[in-house]
Amino acid sequence: MFPGRVTSTRLVDRAEPLVRELQRRASSPGRSPRTAVVLGRLLGAGVVVCFATGLFSHLVQEQPAWLPLSPRPVWLYRATQGVHVAVGLALVPVLLGKLWAVYPRLFAWPPVTGVRSVLERLSVLVLVATALLQLATGVMNTAQWYAFPFSFKPVHLALSWVLLGSVVLHVAVKLPVIAGSWRAPSAQDEDADDEDDEDDEEAVARRTALTAVGAATAATVLLTVGQSLPALAPLALLSPRRPGVGPQGLPVNRTAREAGVLQTAVSADWRLEVVDERRGALVLLTLEELRAMPQTGARLPIACVEGWSQDADWSGVRLRELLALVGAPAGSDVRVSSLQVRGGYRTSLMRGAYAQDPRTLLALALGGEPLHLDHGHPARVIAPGRPGVLQTKWVRRVEVLS
Ligand code: HEM
Repeated sequence: MFPGRVTSTRLVDRAEPLVRELQRRASSPGRSPRTAVVLGRLLGAGVVVCFATGLFSHLVQEQPAWLPLSPRPVWLYRATQGVHVAVGLALVPVLLGKLWAVYPRLFAWPPVTGVRSVLERLSVLVLVATALLQLATGVMNTAQWYAFPFSFKPVHLALSWVLLGSVVLHVAVKLPVIAGSWRAPSAQDEDADDEDDEDDEEAVARRTALTAVGAATAATVLLTVGQSLPALAPLALLSPRRPGVGPQGLPVNRTAREAGVLQTAVSADWRLEVVDERRGALVLLTLEELRAMPQTGARLPIACVEGWSQDADWSGVRLRELLALVGAPAGSDVRVSSLQVRGGYRTSLMRGAYAQDPRTLLALALGGEPLHLDHGHPARVIAPGRPGVLQTKWVRRVEVLS
């Protein structure tokens, strides 16, 4: 009478033993709820750290006027973005371990038991998909492998809100399991003598699984963190950039060739424009004139958004002294433009607090030698507390904004 219903009932009847068999094969003592909870806690903590440090990176780059960011301490951005990428990389083995621990739950039978379980499964789907995408594209971005068909930054930012939200939702749904695992094992097992052997086996398997994840995590961190921790630089075998490796002993993300400035950066016609349009003030300076001005030295890091960083000795003209040439009031915001004709970072906004800092330079030399073309010859910005992408290279114009 109801052929469709009969067919679907038969399908379900056939699926059940198959799914149960898959679950039986996938189950192992190491994949206990406690393994999942331990890895889940690490994952949750890591996501919170990445969210906080990532948001900080976003704000430092956007420099919103309502947020009084300070260029001091000079190491702050270097530390937060180093932590962001180190923790992000550490999360890769932790996430894989967590998925290994919980994937048999895919084969739970019946697959759903009501509206609540449908919502729970959907929230887990969003969580897993977002976490995998966030970590995979994050790692690809640090390797400068832009194989994804979208712009990294806005998608990474949006995913970070979705990820944080789905972590909070997941923790709320799983609170009973999480709370259970906080209780001392002895209290849980007091009256279960006959289960002792099973528990021992589970504990050993759990420890083995957690040790394997711990070892993979430690190896990932040890082989990469030297990109931002000088003491571990020799171990940074998996980092795309290594301290000390590059022209003038400093890594480079974007070369002069890639930026398309091979000719313009060495042209005899190059002049630095310092301009305040509202006052109608314009000063043009040749490289020789800039070199004849008082030179200031500063030891400041290049701290890349991709996690690597390195201190270097820069020297050049204080930016605030250049701004004084056009009569700019102290603390003016400025826009710095590069000779680059394309690319999101061909200009950068610098808030007054940074422009006014005595360590903010229009650098002409690195380590006592004229800047290498790939480091921004003839002149580049170097300021404390700013990500490398804002330390504009091949500068042609400094414009007073307010
Ligand atoms: C675990 C979850 C993660 C969260 C919640 C997160 C969050 C964020 C946020 C909010 C930003 C700022 C985006 C912006 O400036 O608009 C950011 C930037 C960044 N993140 Fe993550 N992130 C995570 C994982 C990772 C991983 C695994 C990596 C790579 C190992 C990574 C690498 C980066 C990089 C390179 C940037 C700088 C992008 C740029 O300014 O060009 N992130 N992250």
